[in-house]
Amino acid sequence: MEVLTRSYATAEEARQKIATVLHAKYESDSRSPKLIDSVQEIYRDNFSPEMKTDWKTHSNNLGHKEFLGYFRCHDGEHKTADGRQGIKANDCSACHVILAQGRGEQLLKLNPQGQSLEHPGGDFGDMKCSECHTGGAP
Ligand code: HEC
Ligand code: HEC
Repeated sequence: MEVLTRSYATAEEARQKIATVLHAKYESDSRSPKLIDSVQEIYRDNFSPEMKTDWKTHSNNLGHKEFLGYFRCHDGEHKTADGRQGIKANDCSACHVILAQGRGEQLLKLNPQGQSLEHPGGDFGDMKCSECHTGGAP
């Protein structure tokens, strides 16, 4: 969202500009005050302009979606001393068992052996999640 990707000098400036921009854009929508509150809250929880820091400053390496996380080592390049065993980042089932996925009826198709991921953005080959999922606008 544009108002979140701009840089602001202070938290107060951000708070005001987010309100001005969103108010102008969605003035006629009765949900706009709620929208403004939520966007201000998202900004406040994730950015500290006075401290020149934001949510990206310290990587969150639990998981591997927006940061490399588990894939820092489990990338297929790191192997046991005899060179025989390693976990590739794209070997999802080494760490996950996807029992079911999708919505509605699809969720009834449980498979105890696990399923391969049906990624909403299409197949992504050997790419790491964080190459696309940067937390920013696409
Ligand atoms: C080395 C182990 C490992 C491998 C390999 C791995 N994952 Fe993960 N994955 C994790 C862990 C740990 C988490 C975080 C779980 C949590 O936070 O509860 C995670 C989180 C996720 C999430 C939730 C992401 C989010 O934050 O919304 C998805 C989706 C996912 N993995 C899919 C995959 C897919 C698809 C693959 C294969 C391309 C894969 N994982 C490979 C360990 C792994
Ligand atoms: C080549 C770029 C690319 C890669 C690599 C990629 N994704 Fe995605 N992903 C997308 C795009 C684009 C969407 C949005 C698609 C849509 O909503 O139609 C998406 C959507 C998603 C979603 C649903 C929406 C969300 O953000 O919660 C999840 C969950 C997800 N991806 C997880 C992963 C995981 C886990 C990996 C790595 C194992 C991964 N993706 C790798 C591009 C990518």
